Amino acid sequence: IQWFPGHMAKARNQVQEKLKLVDIVLEIVDARIPISSQNPMLAEIIEHKPKIMILNKADLADPKQTEVWQAYFKQQGYASIAIDAQHKSQLPQINKVVRTVLKDKIQKQYDKGLKLAKVRAICIGIPNVGKSTILNRLVHKNIAKTGDRPGVTKNQQWLKVNEEFEVLDTPGILWPKFEDQTVGTKLALLGSIKDSIYADDDVALFALDYLKTHYAPRLLAAYKLNEADLDQDNPDLMLFLTKKLGFKEDYDQFAQRLILDIRKGRFGRLTFEDVVLATDTVGD
Ligand code: GTP
Repeated sequence: IQWFPGHMAKARNQVQEKLKLVDIVLEIVDARIPISSQNPMLAEIIEHKPKIMILNKADLADPKQTEVWQAYFKQQGYASIAIDAQHKSQLPQINKVVRTVLKDKIQKQYDKGLKLAKVRAICIGIPNVGKSTILNRLVHKNIAKTGDRPGVTKNQQWLKVNEEFEVLDTPGILWPKFEDQTVGTKLALLGSIKDSIYADDDVALFALDYLKTHYAPRLLAAYKLNEADLDQDNPDLMLFLTKKLGFKEDYDQFAQRLILDIRKGRFGRLTFEDVVLATDTVGD
């Protein structure tokens, strides 16, 4: 998808319209980059709707970091769940969390004598984060991928998750924080935006630096390096690895190889964003 200001305004308006229809928002983010895969606009248009953070693709993320991120979102006041949307066994959790978050609202409806308190939700997220996969899992079938197109809000359909929970048939698609160069680099690294937008060597340099500083033992093991090899600065290390892996002087080929190795899980499950949790004194 190409995002131009006109598209962004249209996407924003469409999501805003859809938000009016729902009780709760399921914000889907990539567990490997929980901040970079958030949408900057959602906070502005969501107003007071409850929101649940869904850290998707958790099967690819560093499980320890995912725990820390969930604690972070809790501090921010949001319930969260970490899932692998490709496995349906994990999805009843979404329903459970939705009901917990909306307990008060549902209780009020019961008190008023309404038999079924139906909760309506929407999945919102940036492209490729797994919105369609989650929708399909939630409703146990394959829904055609329609995405956002003009006029689509006029005939929204509700898909039944269960007797008490419905979800909008089209997800809300918003754009990532493109202004921030590292955000773009991270999205390119994980294959969430077209590779061609960012140069492979920039993406690889970022990745190499991150591996070096956060996952050094895995980097050493995967490419059979000595610890001292990591003393080189990043461009030198890139060149060193280019030669070591047999790409001669072809820096770009190594860059592509590194990116592929990361995506294919050669370094295990990785998270490319750190979070520092607020201490107890914050907010006093
Ligand atoms: P757009 O239509 O571009 O907005 O994408 P989307 O947000 O609907 O994402 P989609 O559901 O199409 O998923 C994108 C890719 O990620 C697909 O190849 C999915 O198979 C994959 N995917 C989705 N969820 C997961 C997950 O939890 N784990 C893994 N490993 N892959 C996932």
